[in-house]
Amino acid sequence: MTTYRLASIGGDGVGPEVTAAARTVLDAVARRDGFGVEWLDVVAGGAAIDAYGTAFRPEDLDAVAACDAILLGAVGGPRWDDPAARVRPEQALFALRGGLELFANLRPVTILPALVPSSPVRPEVLEGVDLLIVRELTSGLYFGRPSEQRETPEGRVGIDTLWYTEGEIRRVVRLAFELARGRRRRLTSVDKANVLATSRLWRTVVDELRGEYADVEVNHQLVDSCAMLLVRRPASFDVLVTENLFGDILSDEAAVLAGSLGMLPSASLGERRTAHGRFGLYEPIHGSAPDIAGHDLANPAGTILSAAMLLRWSLGLEAAAAGVEAAVGAAIADGYRTADLVPPDGDRAGLHVVGTREMTAAIVERLDAHRDARLDARPGPRVGSGAA
Ligand code: IPM
Ligand code: MG
Repeated sequence: MTTYRLASIGGDGVGPEVTAAARTVLDAVARRDGFGVEWLDVVAGGAAIDAYGTAFRPEDLDAVAACDAILLGAVGGPRWDDPAARVRPEQALFALRGGLELFANLRPVTILPALVPSSPVRPEVLEGVDLLIVRELTSGLYFGRPSEQRETPEGRVGIDTLWYTEGEIRRVVRLAFELARGRRRRLTSVDKANVLATSRLWRTVVDELRGEYADVEVNHQLVDSCAMLLVRRPASFDVLVTENLFGDILSDEAAVLAGSLGMLPSASLGERRTAHGRFGLYEPIHGSAPDIAGHDLANPAGTILSAAMLLRWSLGLEAAAAGVEAAVGAAIADGYRTADLVPPDGDRAGLHVVGTREMTAAIVERLDAHRDARLDARPGPRVGSGAA
């Protein structure tokens, strides 16, 4: 029996609840399909600040790097929000992303038909939406130095540095091209080339790579107009590739299309491969939601769908991954909704409004019926299919 080693980082707020949900699903898939999962629990974020005085311990980086993949909930919360603090929960994310060189963050956005009423966007606009945001994750403003406040004769000054090397751009753009090849072969590169030097370099590197991917149609889009088009004509996008901060912002915007931030998964990948697939870190795109933490209210779908990406990308278990995605879709189709998914007009007719645990149970119950979901009819190419 193959046994996979997975690191589990619950983190803060709703993080531990949604991570537990995804673990329940992965353990159920493992029992069903006859593989083993050995979990390594790691403390990070605010919880680690409380326990160790630091958001992420260097020795834990070695420990998680030795696993096949990492499942992460969320970090952060008001308790650690002091702007003057030197130690902040988010440093754990940057230690993991940067320390493990996970430079490409994949954020797929698909719309489950039953969730169309949950989105404030009109149904006809949501028709055919199936996009993938590829966000650069280990450079840009998040990592540029200096990043600090200074006392100057003009008063306090805040400085952040936007920095990209051509190598950093090339590796993530290349992966985006490869992903576009496995999908509808359309790549939108998002930048602010009319203002930023880094964006002009970004655009040049994309154009240099085009020749190698002549079968992929490339568009350059300025980030401001892209933000508008994402809600006006979201179905026109296939793969979007962009720098770190733009990707952070655009992916929260795109989540509105899917009905809730709580639905969206992500995979953070680098070059490194394990015996089974690419090493990666998997987390929902929502944050720690401290206001609802501990009340069994969080939507576990984003983390469970992240676990599906883990099965696909890090363990090479495509059928199991598609099966988890289908089971989530089936639970939603059968009317199960966490509070975030109740339509804006509050119409609950035919819906079972449930908590995190009941939603998870509804998904687990549907796993057997979707054992090999590759056979299920699903329109459009699947995210990650035939990829790099
Ligand atoms: C995300 C989050 C993080 C980010 C925060 C929590 C630092 O918003 O993963 O999208 O900005 O990268
Ligand atoms: Mg974000």
